[in-house]
Amino acid sequence: MKKLAGKIAVVTGGSRGIGAAIATGLGREGATVVINYNHSEAEAQAIVKEVEDMGSSAIALQADISDAEATKIFIEKVLEQFGRIDVLVNNAGITRDKTFKKMSFEEWHKVIDTNLSSVFNTCKIALPSMLEQKYGRIINISSVIGQAGGFGQTNYAAAKAGLIGFSKSLALETARGGVTVNCICPGYIATEMVNAMPENVREAIIAQVPMKKLGAPEEIAKGVIFICESEYMTGQSLNLNGGLYLM
Ligand code: CAA
Repeated sequence: MKKLAGKIAVVTGGSRGIGAAIATGLGREGATVVINYNHSEAEAQAIVKEVEDMGSSAIALQADISDAEATKIFIEKVLEQFGRIDVLVNNAGITRDKTFKKMSFEEWHKVIDTNLSSVFNTCKIALPSMLEQKYGRIINISSVIGQAGGFGQTNYAAAKAGLIGFSKSLALETARGGVTVNCICPGYIATEMVNAMPENVREAIIAQVPMKKLGAPEEIAKGVIFICESEYMTGQSLNLNGGLYLM
């Protein structure tokens, strides 16, 4: 029996990078996976095919989750089609790296809206149905940057730290209702986002990682499966960072 057989899972930003690995990881364990994307439709459809090839069901749904109204329509569509949401992985995130003195209001708001307010938007609509069925797993993909800070990342660090506080608070409110809320804090993972960093900065960061390498996106998927299975873990952050930041 697959670990997540019969479960309905939603992954925001599931078309690429860490989100795509999480979507396929959930599919491998038997979950029906809803892959949310904003622009990357072809990539999202490719992940749908990958999940289907594993023998699980998947669909791709477009929504800009920084937009509260669009997110409401998206989550309500999932609830209408599948009747419930068991696992919600809030993974979608962007960077707009700039030193603070060069950062525009637009770059600040874009990152806060996409990486933090989006999680309010999805949870607001999905949570009531989880509480009603007395079961839910909300997993928010934060970052080591939310714990340690990052040069040129005041917007991103604020959003990712915000996710940790959000998750702890919501965990307190839902603990008696069968819904757990946790974060995963990845370190530097081999994705397009990290590849887009200036090469010299990336190399300098890898040199600081005790394991001396980037993480594989599949490592984050393994963390998601672990949290899905856990009955007693809530309000926590799972740090998957090659030893970069020791709590
Ligand atoms: N620590 C200390 N000083 C640094 C630094 C760092 N990490 N990075 C740059 N500086 C210094 C530079 O040496 C330079 O100093 P001088 O003026 O004395 O020469 C000064 O800061 C300005 O640097 P730049 O000329 O590069 O300034 P910029 O404004 O053009 O770019 C930057 C700055 C945007 C931060 C750029 O260096 C950059 O993109 N850095 C990478 C940011 C980063 O780490 N992003 C992580 C993306 S991956 C991710 O976020 C995923 C995750 O969750 C882990």
